[in-house]
Amino acid sequence: MGRARTRLCYLFGVSLKKKIAILPGDGIGKEVIPQAIRALEAVGAPLEFTSFDWGADRYLTDKTTVPPDGFAMLGRDFDAILLGAFGDPRVPTNIHAKEILLGMRVEMDLYANVRPVRLLDGRLCPLKGVEAKDIDFVVVRENTEGVYGDVGGVFKKGTADEVAIQEDINTRKGVERVVRYAFEYAANHLRLDGSPRQNVLMCDKSNAMTHAGGLWQRVFKQVGSEHPQFKCEHMYVDALCMQMVRDPRQFDVIVTNNMFGDIITDLAAGLQGGLGMAASGNIHPGKTSMFEPVHGSAPPIAGKNIANPFGAILTAAMMLRHLGLGAEAEKIEAAVLAALLAKKTTVDIGGTLGTREAGEWVAQRVGA
Ligand code: NAD
Ligand code: IPM
Ligand code: MN
Repeated sequence: MGRARTRLCYLFGVSLKKKIAILPGDGIGKEVIPQAIRALEAVGAPLEFTSFDWGADRYLTDKTTVPPDGFAMLGRDFDAILLGAFGDPRVPTNIHAKEILLGMRVEMDLYANVRPVRLLDGRLCPLKGVEAKDIDFVVVRENTEGVYGDVGGVFKKGTADEVAIQEDINTRKGVERVVRYAFEYAANHLRLDGSPRQNVLMCDKSNAMTHAGGLWQRVFKQVGSEHPQFKCEHMYVDALCMQMVRDPRQFDVIVTNNMFGDIITDLAAGLQGGLGMAASGNIHPGKTSMFEPVHGSAPPIAGKNIANPFGAILTAAMMLRHLGLGAEAEKIEAAVLAALLAKKTTVDIGGTLGTREAGEWVAQRVGA
């Protein structure tokens, strides 16, 4: 970048750096996010970080979950959000996690939860005979509706006649935009081997949940007919779980509702080497989007320097690609791959390093 341009930007108060909001959150979120930042710093990406203390500690101190205007501020002042995880045994209601994480997804309308499932090293997969090249699919999870809307109620609480109702919200707009996103993702993202994506599979439970499933079926058929280059497939979620374990090679792009997407992406994380390896992005095209590892705050292993930071580091790479910094993203992904091949990893995936040491190895490799 020319000096004159830098000076002009300085004079007019324009920063050329992408502004990143950091929300480490609780538990191992506080350990893995610093390692993701280390990789981002090592790659020399033009980023500016601002940290926020939203989480259990803050909630227990002043009862704040999301500060007033919090989501509007994130959307207005930042290019992307990098988040750890929320959940703390000292807050048994989980109210802060609900308001911060689920609140952010809904209030910022981050409707597509994109969860790539890639086996970077065949040794990490618990399935027999599966090699790295065999697993390269993505789950696009609807992120703002379904049973997560928390619409419902309890009647005659605490009595023998108690009734609990949890509604499943599925809107035409909500289903259609996420299904469209899945087809667009398929069109715009090659497989790791450079070949084009070929099929989009919709996963539901329309044999039992006929109203919601019927809407998903109709929308998928309509949007699919507008994308004739893709083979459109369907599986019930129960059968899909079996197929994912029996033959994960068959999957390419999967689109599904909020809850099924949550469940099948933990199963899919198991194929990649566990929750410590899985990355995700919560996306609304054109708006400030949020990136987080798929795992939670893992209270039993928190504070012990044993959590795997690679899911968070790969999430940081995903964020870079989203921000148009693809070359930097590739460098970070290559460094994680090198760490796996050299067994410079945490114990959950067979190494001997701690969280910080594994992060340090990746950062050094990125900077080398
Ligand atoms: P979890 O993902 O925290 O842990 C599940 C299992 O995976 C545990 O055995 C844990 O030790 C292991 N694990 C997870 N991440 C790991 C890592 N990076 N390295 C090594 N092992 C790892 O899920 P959980 O136990 O069901 O939930 C714990 C808390 O986290 C709960 O409060 C839950 O609500 C919350 N949670 C938050 C998010 C989020 O904020 N995005 C996601 C999932 C769960
Ligand atoms: C996830 C998590 C969350 C979800 C929890 C913490 C509410 O499991 O991001 O996968 O169910 O969406
Ligand atoms: Mn989950």
